[in-house]
Amino acid sequence: MGLVNNLSSGGDKVSNWQELERKYFMNTVERVPVTLVRGEGARVWDENGREYLDFVGGWAVNSLGHCPPVVVEAVGEQAHTLIQTSNQFYTIPQIRLAELLVNNSCLDKVFLCNSGAEANEGAVKLARRYGQRYLNGAYEVITTLGSFHGRTLSMVAATGQVKFQEPYLPLPVGFINVEFNSIGAIRAATTDKTCAVMLEPVQGEGGVNLPEDNYLTAVREWCDQKGILLILDEIQTGLGRMGTLFVYEQYGIEPDVMTLAKGLGSGVPIGAILAKDRASVFVPGEHGSTFGGNPLTCAAAYAALKFILDNDIVGNARKVGQYLIDSLEGLREKSRCITDVRGRGLLVAVEFNSDIAGSLLTGCLDRGLLVNRVKPNALRFIPPLIIGNGEVDKAISILDGAISSIIN
Ligand SMILES: Cc1ncc(COP(=O)(O)O)c(C=O)c1O
Repeated sequence: MGLVNNLSSGGDKVSNWQELERKYFMNTVERVPVTLVRGEGARVWDENGREYLDFVGGWAVNSLGHCPPVVVEAVGEQAHTLIQTSNQFYTIPQIRLAELLVNNSCLDKVFLCNSGAEANEGAVKLARRYGQRYLNGAYEVITTLGSFHGRTLSMVAATGQVKFQEPYLPLPVGFINVEFNSIGAIRAATTDKTCAVMLEPVQGEGGVNLPEDNYLTAVREWCDQKGILLILDEIQTGLGRMGTLFVYEQYGIEPDVMTLAKGLGSGVPIGAILAKDRASVFVPGEHGSTFGGNPLTCAAAYAALKFILDNDIVGNARKVGQYLIDSLEGLREKSRCITDVRGRGLLVAVEFNSDIAGSLLTGCLDRGLLVNRVKPNALRFIPPLIIGNGEVDKAISILDGAISSIIN
């Protein structure tokens, strides 16, 4: 154990970081009882030197794995050059990143911020400005049940899940949550107050729920017909995770506005709003951020995205993702408790016939694999996009062992 792990900030010897966390940290998350201190590629190590294969990837953030050399190098170099200025001034890393995003998507303009929720907040503000300018002050945004758009108060209202909303009632107005995969529900909820529909093309946090074949096309057509904006939240699905750079490509549609975060910085906190020219309606002073577009995070995100593009990381996610899905299907034939395997690329969920996901998470942890319990009866696999079939084989064998130990 290194010096850092033996000392608290006051210099006292501490034996248990988890006790200190309970003493000093707000109680917002049910943590897995492991203190991670180091990561490399798809592997992490805890304070006792124990190694784990990481199929959580920082909740779909560590696209290039832990401490990817290109990002480490970019951060180091930028940290020695210019870390932060105000957005009153031009800075080069944010312009290079915006250019790379525009050149590789169907969108024209970029706003940079610090997280997914903040990107979605900005996208909704953009839609409201659009409504003020072109739709007689329309301000309502239609979102779907089972979605997840972030933890700020407005994004809790946008997120169609009661468990995230109930503790914070009353919610901000202007969000209508309707059934996912129902164009009829969107049509019925649209009024002259509607300025946008906001969707995750595949619901991640809601349990990896895929859209039905014609759903996204029908939503696109409806938005065109009504002159309202289609905002796609690709915060979890975008940047290669599902086997194409963006999921909208798989459905032959283009959004008016798209939000990104998570994998954008491959571990460095950054978010982005992208918009078509006609939807890019902010004027100076209407939106902003102190840290958004910060040179340090932009240099990291540029390096990460460039690496993804230059090394066909997206193709790897597609191929290895299919191998993961096939392997899980193989396990399903053997283990009757698996009722569904769904997803694409490296965003995959496995559903069980009872609420065993928590016990399986512990079983996998004990055997050296980190997984995410996305629902009481479902595990989600969101590993780095750089893994190969060997890592999949190891994960499947560990999951198999964990299932056998609790089923038998
Ligand atoms: C689809 C989606 N949107 C938004 C968010 C919120 O992102 P952040 O936690 O960076 O605010 C998440 C986070 O899980 C997400 O999955």
